[in-house]
Amino acid sequence: KNRLTMKKEKTLGMIKPDAVSKMGSILDLIYASGMKITKLKMCHLNRNEAFEFYQEHQGKPFLDNLLSYITSGPVIAFELMGEGTVGRWRELLGPTDSAVARKENPTSIRARFGKDKTMNACHGSDGVATAARELEFFFPSVGPSRKNTAKFDDCT
Ligand code: PPS
Repeated sequence: KNRLTMKKEKTLGMIKPDAVSKMGSILDLIYASGMKITKLKMCHLNRNEAFEFYQEHQGKPFLDNLLSYITSGPVIAFELMGEGTVGRWRELLGPTDSAVARKENPTSIRARFGKDKTMNACHGSDGVATAARELEFFFPSVGPSRKNTAKFDDCT
């Protein structure tokens, strides 16, 4: 795609508990890709927060397993900004299942740092609307936590 015609977007990325120890390598790959990290924080979600974050998976058979895993340790959430960032971040992640990623996209983050479909290293919003909701979850636009987040109007 012609990057000049691509729309500037924001997305939410999250390093999951199994890959927090690989955060240096993962952040290096993000910088190398040209995407900009404009907000970032580490936090340990409780079950209610995890349920809110993964609300679209309500009723799925894997939800309980997913919530147990994502609350098992700290995660690192970040905002990415740039042209076509929603799709570019998901491309850098590779397929959801790390075993599939190793076959289909061996240089992807999930291939390199993930284990399976649960421990798959990182999360990425699946669209612009989901990204807005997930960014608001980790980086609320009102309230005291706003004071702690740098504001980037231009990240070119
Ligand atoms: S779906 O139904 O197509 O939306 O599911 P999928 O895109 O494959 O996965 C969505 C997220 O659920 C996680 N997942 C699981 N967690 C625990 N156990 C099992 N069996 C499982 N299957 C899928 C998967 O890692 C995805 O998490 P995110 O954070 O979105 O990458």
